[in-house]
Amino acid sequence: MVVYLKGNLGAGKTTLVRGILRALGYAGRVKSPTYTLLESYVLSKLTLQHYDLYRMIDPREWLDAGFRDDCNAATLCLVEWPEKAEGLLPKPDLVIRLDMAGEGRTARIEALSARGRKEMQSWQLVDRQQEN
Ligand SMILES: Nc1ncnc2c1ncn2[C@@H]1O[C@H](COP(=O)(O)OP(=O)(O)O)[C@@H](O)[C@H]1O
Ligand SMILES: [Mg+2]
Repeated sequence: MVVYLKGNLGAGKTTLVRGILRALGYAGRVKSPTYTLLESYVLSKLTLQHYDLYRMIDPREWLDAGFRDDCNAATLCLVEWPEKAEGLLPKPDLVIRLDMAGEGRTARIEALSARGRKEMQSWQLVDRQQEN
C-alpha cells in the first residue's frame, strides 16, 4: 500500500508516521528520514518504509537509490514530499493532506484506488461532510 503524506513543513507528517508505527506495536525510536531519505521498519505484520524526499534535488535520485524496489504492494510505503519524485513514484492508494489548525491539525484523506477505498471503509470514520 502506498500513502502520500502532503503538507507544509511542520504540518505533522512525521508525527503521523510515528503514531502509525506505535499503533503497529513498534516501541523503538522513530527517526525522521530527513537526511537518509528512507527509514525501514520490519514489523511482525508488515514492512513499513518511511520516506522523506524533502532534500531530494533530482527526482532521478529516487531511481538511483533503488527505492522503486522497496516501495511496492508488499510494503506499507509512507512518503513525505512525494512531489519531489513526481511521475516516478508508484501511484498512491491514499493521499493524506495535513494542515495546521491552531494547536491541532486537520487531515484530509483521499482514497485513489480500490485498495485505498477498502482500507478507508474499514476505519469506519464518520464523514462530517456527509453528516451535515
Ligand atoms: N496532530 C498534531 N497536533 C499537535 N501538534 C502536532 C501534531 N502533529 C505534529 N505536531 C507538532 O508539529 C511539529 C512538527 O511535526 P512534524 O511531524 O515533524 O511535521 P512534518 O513532518 O510535517 O514536517 C512537532 O513539534 C510536532 O510535535
Ligand atoms: Mg517530516
